Amino acid sequence: MKPVKWGVISTANIGVAKVLPGMLKSKDIEIVAISSRKLKTAQEWAGKLGIPRAYGSYEEMLADPEIEAVYNPLPNHLHVPLTLAAAKAGKHVLCEKPIAITAKEAMQLKKAPKNVFIAEAFMVRHAAQWLAVRDLVKKNKIGEVRAIQVLFSYFLKDPKNVRNMADIGGGGLLDIGCYPITVSRFTS
Ligand SMILES: NC(=O)c1ccc[n+]([C@@H]2O[C@H](COP(=O)([O-])OP(=O)(O)OC[C@H]3O[C@@H](n4cnc5c(N)ncnc54)[C@H](OP(=O)(O)O)[C@@H]3O)[C@@H](O)[C@H]2O)c1
Repeated sequence: MKPVKWGVISTANIGVAKVLPGMLKSKDIEIVAISSRKLKTAQEWAGKLGIPRAYGSYEEMLADPEIEAVYNPLPNHLHVPLTLAAAKAGKHVLCEKPIAITAKEAMQLKKAPKNVFIAEAFMVRHAAQWLAVRDLVKKNKIGEVRAIQVLFSYFLKDPKNVRNMADIGGGGLLDIGCYPITVSRFTS
């Protein structure tokens, strides 16, 4: 298989610190571009990570015909708009969780062209230990599941963090509450 050519929407911390270093190790992935609202920021990260092209706007990068797939780690309120824009530009999309702020907003993704894949970056759906847990539940190894109780918490006081800005999709439920919800509905 030829490596898939990827573009990255923004210099979000999760991307530059965790996801991109992992992607760069894969022989099936070639990251050809990174974009940012500021060209200088995109150029700085392109230099640090060894990515060939930098764009000063997300839209400009989406018009790059060489890019086949994009990674979208924007704040939550931009997941659907930029995922749709990328899909309409013919790119497959790996979008950070939660893929939308509401179920109604998620339904807008149905407008995406049918020949592109859109996936939500929820690790629990792919990680081996969670797949093993699901297998045990499905095989009835722990008996009938009637309820699930999950504690997932951390401390974050910074009012400037995207997670603490309600108007751009912040809040505990959308940030980590979505994990217990996903796990509790993790049947197929
Ligand atoms: N799957 C996981 O395990 C995991 C882990 C952590 C985070 N996430 C998800 O990843 C996403 C980003 O989280 P993060 O902590 O990496 O965020 P972050 O560091 O704040 O990055 C968000 C980026 O979005 C761009 N942006 C565009 N419009 C913005 C606005 N109005 N306000 C702030 N930033 C804006 C900025 O990039 P430019 O300046 O370059 O344009 C910014 O660097 C969230 O959806 C979060 O839920 C997932």
